[in-house]
Amino acid sequence: MSFLEIEKCDDFDLEIKSIASDKSISHRSAIFSLLSDKPSRIKNYLQAEDTLNTLKIVEKLGAKIEENSEFLKITPPKDIKEPDDVLDCGNSGTAMRLMCGFLSNKKGFFVLHGDKYLSQRPMNRVIKPLKNIGAKIDGRDEGSYSPLAIRGSKLTSFKYKSPIASAQVKSAMILSVLRSADKISYYKEPHLSRDHTERMLNGMGAKIITNEKSEIEIYPSLQPLKPLDIYIPSDPSSAFFFAVATAISKNSKIILKNVLLNPTRIEAFEVLKRMGADIKYIIKDEKYEIVGDIVVKSSKLKGIEVGENIAWLIDELPALSIAMSCAKGKSVVKNAKELRVKESDRIKTVVDNLQKCGIKTKEYKDGYEIIGGEIKSAEINSFGDHRIAMSFAIAGLVDGMKVNDTECIKTSFPNFIDILKKITRIKIGN
Ligand code: S3P
Repeated sequence: MSFLEIEKCDDFDLEIKSIASDKSISHRSAIFSLLSDKPSRIKNYLQAEDTLNTLKIVEKLGAKIEENSEFLKITPPKDIKEPDDVLDCGNSGTAMRLMCGFLSNKKGFFVLHGDKYLSQRPMNRVIKPLKNIGAKIDGRDEGSYSPLAIRGSKLTSFKYKSPIASAQVKSAMILSVLRSADKISYYKEPHLSRDHTERMLNGMGAKIITNEKSEIEIYPSLQPLKPLDIYIPSDPSSAFFFAVATAISKNSKIILKNVLLNPTRIEAFEVLKRMGADIKYIIKDEKYEIVGDIVVKSSKLKGIEVGENIAWLIDELPALSIAMSCAKGKSVVKNAKELRVKESDRIKTVVDNLQKCGIKTKEYKDGYEIIGGEIKSAEINSFGDHRIAMSFAIAGLVDGMKVNDTECIKTSFPNFIDILKKITRIKIGN
């Protein structure tokens, strides 16, 4: 099993241009290219395990993928091909859930499967509402867990009020009716989740409107959509590890270049700012999405309570827990029970690992409490979760750290270690 040993370090001044491309937008650009009848051009597609798996799925469904030094060209098939093999989503909930919505109205038989972590994650949140509109999907435990078998069928429009703010559920439902139902569908979520699906599909000519009741209206688009011509900016969730690294280190500054600044994705930076961090955004582009540089400097942090807009910072909470551990006073995270069903049970994995580092914590059903102190060098386990591995690698800057089971980092941020090496010395082992 691979491990990393990180040496303590501070005092750095860096400009990073190579933060991994946005994962959410990469998955979507591969899948959405199948909604057009012309080739899509995608620049800066994320070359990580999760998104490369999605590309392979798109290829198995009949798309032609060509790559040159500038962009990825995805030529969609005339009709989706029934694959003669299972479709491997690897570790990615986004791929599996979006594919459920996309495939449930396509002619043919499709099997989705994933790794040992993905097969433990709940799929009924998409399967149930999809079955209600006529989808034929089955899986383990009455369709709750993968592998999932889908027999494409005609679906009806819906009026669905989702109990959770989830962009994966929202996107699956949008994809299920966009090219198949003949009436408008309505989707409502408790709070707005990340909105890349709406933005990108509207950019491709679909009509998806958020009305005055905060419901999303999905108009059927029976004609093929326009192809995508997109540049994918850096992922704010990946950039955030280095924002935390800088905020908790002494005498340090970092410039994170060309990061996606969509308001539904930078809430963790806003929380870190409210904790006292010196963070500035320099906006450079606002075409499809807001994109810019983020400048972070060493700061004295104070504890904070986080209980709102959780969907906007759910992926960054493990890294934020490291900042909370270095802050003065108590921090609380609540209303975050979704953390329990991510790549690991992130309430448990954050709390257990912080305790190993000598930080006082309390576990709640829907979050945790952290008393800021000094993160001590320890040997921790990632539990196969990329964000836990990277968060604790960053924590190692304070007093050193051994992080076990670090293979998972390549699912979202393959050059994470190369960037961290610009800050400190790292021993990599197997
Ligand atoms: C994602 C949505 C979020 C997020 C995940 C990526 C997406 O999940 O945690 O990493 O690309 O739609 P949920 O929609 O389940 O909250």
